[in-house]
Amino acid sequence: MKKKLLILAGDGIGPEVMNEVKKIIVWFNKKKSADFEITEELAGGISFDKHGEPITDKVMKIALESDAVLLGAVGGPKWDKLEFSKKPERALLRLRKDLELFANLRPAICFKELANASTLKPEIVSDLDIMIVRELTGGIYFGSPRGVEKLSNGEKKGINTHTYTTSEIQRVARVAFELARKRNNKVTSCEKSNVMEAGLLWREVVEELHKNEFKDVELSHMLADNCAMQLVRNPKQFDVIVTDNLFGDMLSDEAGMLTGSLGMLPSASLSGKNKAGKFKSMYEPCHGSAPDIAGKNIANPLASILSFSMALRYSFNMDKDADMLDNAVKDVLSDGHRTADIMESGKNKVSTSQMGDLVITKLK
Ligand code: IPM
Ligand code: MG
Repeated sequence: MKKKLLILAGDGIGPEVMNEVKKIIVWFNKKKSADFEITEELAGGISFDKHGEPITDKVMKIALESDAVLLGAVGGPKWDKLEFSKKPERALLRLRKDLELFANLRPAICFKELANASTLKPEIVSDLDIMIVRELTGGIYFGSPRGVEKLSNGEKKGINTHTYTTSEIQRVARVAFELARKRNNKVTSCEKSNVMEAGLLWREVVEELHKNEFKDVELSHMLADNCAMQLVRNPKQFDVIVTDNLFGDMLSDEAGMLTGSLGMLPSASLSGKNKAGKFKSMYEPCHGSAPDIAGKNIANPLASILSFSMALRYSFNMDKDADMLDNAVKDVLSDGHRTADIMESGKNKVSTSQMGDLVITKLK
């Protein structure tokens, strides 16, 4: 059976890094008869320029019919002044919402080879392996009311609303507990239950689910600000962190930097399973479109390549191939090859496309 992939390379460095992923997909089709069928479409600023919309209904329909979406990056200064609904980021948010991708998995793994590239001491980050599970379709990103109101005194009032229902919390916490069972069996749930009612509900629902279904997993709760601090103090205390959309956005960037570079961080966004066990998924690097370095062939394609490895693992049950691809990345780093963002003295600086080619030489 054909495996339908929709590639949305997007803006900035998106097309460059996705190009390297495409080479790897072609390798899998040729050498492993993997039968991936690629469709390429527009999303983000590039789609706005052509169609006046950050993503069209036609592309959304293809996304809904694909086995997995591979996204590069969206956004850039060119589109900063657009009204909210036209901004490139809306493409991303619509994909997340319409595909119901409520569980966003952001692993922060610090390869030994890159421990020196982190701004933290190598002993703090070397061999770090954290999984952040970020709720992705709720909270303040999507709550209503939202908008900017004019007040009678001439002032304006900006409004966004943070909401979570029991089932929204349960389903993402369940993903976190299940992942923990396959790792080091520890979940840290983060909220601000000291100031937010929705945070208190979050804590209670996670607690209840733990009691009823996941007693074998070690659970602790942490206020999100403390978690931000603990991540730089002693990150190896964490295994799986589960948190809401906004805290997850921030904590995952912070965790990302522990690993040396955001250019290394992949992510998977998953929906729930239907009765047939099928689910929707989207894979994307955590770095943005990095317009300042776009088009220069210097961006790090490893986050996108590792995102494709997550697709192999989660969407296509190709765990062995995913391991092989992860190991290929490790081998290339061990050999001393580095893109600019992770460059250290004494290493061999390579371009985006060279990095992709080097990874392919390590595939078997
Ligand atoms: C992310 C990004 C997005 C977010 C932006 C681009 C809308 O920061 O995926 O972390 O805030 O979710
Ligand atoms: Mg972010």
